[in-house]
Amino acid sequence: MIFTVKKTGFIAFILLLGMMLVLSACGSKDADENNGSGEVTGPAAETPQAEEPAAEPTLLDKIKESGKLRLGTSADYPPYEFHKLIEGKDTIIGFDIEIAKAIAADLGVELEITDMGFDGLLTALQSGNIDMVLAGMTPNEERSNAVDFSDVYYTAVQKVIVRAEDKDKYKTIDDLKGLQVGAQLGAIQEGIVKEQMPESKLRSLTKLPDLILDLKSKNVEAVVVEEPVAAAYIGANPELVISDIQLQQDEAGSAVALPKNSPELVEAVNATLKRLADEGKIAQFVTEATNAMENEKPE
Ligand code: ARG
Repeated sequence: MIFTVKKTGFIAFILLLGMMLVLSACGSKDADENNGSGEVTGPAAETPQAEEPAAEPTLLDKIKESGKLRLGTSADYPPYEFHKLIEGKDTIIGFDIEIAKAIAADLGVELEITDMGFDGLLTALQSGNIDMVLAGMTPNEERSNAVDFSDVYYTAVQKVIVRAEDKDKYKTIDDLKGLQVGAQLGAIQEGIVKEQMPESKLRSLTKLPDLILDLKSKNVEAVVVEEPVAAAYIGANPELVISDIQLQQDEAGSAVALPKNSPELVEAVNATLKRLADEGKIAQFVTEATNAMENEKPE
């Protein structure tokens, strides 16, 4: 009797031990699956994923936190953005700058401006050195792969600037066959010259004033830019004119470029752009920038 009880107890003990072993083996197998493989599944894995957005601050949060919005621009594009001496101080002004100031004000932060070559802007944005670009930049497919764009806030057509003395000589694209035509490095105007003036020779330079200088000194025969910019440069250089040369698909919009996958920032920028457009402010900024430019004495 005693023996039987003891034996039953022993068997129960062995069974219990066996069950514990099986359970612990299952447990460690589960743990291995979660930690070992890259793809984690199951409820245990969902928890950290669901918490992520709240834990990780967005770019918009970071900008507000830092108290400043870092704008990158290429200040060689009047009336969009350009340098002007104001009370003896070199200042960057233009309608893009006024829009950028309004964006910063709406975010409650200060605007910090960095002037660089147009062709370096998207790289600076991608590497996190700046938070946004306003530089009369036209959204296109290639750029949209690298950065996010706001809504378009302004549109302009493309024009060809030539020397006044050549206005009658260069009236069509054909008249520029075999000749040098300038466009800003990294700008869509390079593509326009390549596609629409394939028989001309493209000369690309980083800064637009250098191309204008080239045009005046007969290093290039024509320069392609957006119309308001053409008007600005011919205003300051009476020996230059807008030619009669007609370009196709010549409308280019300007939008704010922002780092890829920054939906909160895009939304905030679009809200400011919409407010400015509704209040007629964008048109006002364009007029003011154009006037500021015209008051400038030609070189
Ligand atoms: N709209 C043209 C582009 O996106 C030219 C812009 C040039 N802008 C400037 N700030 N230089 O390529």
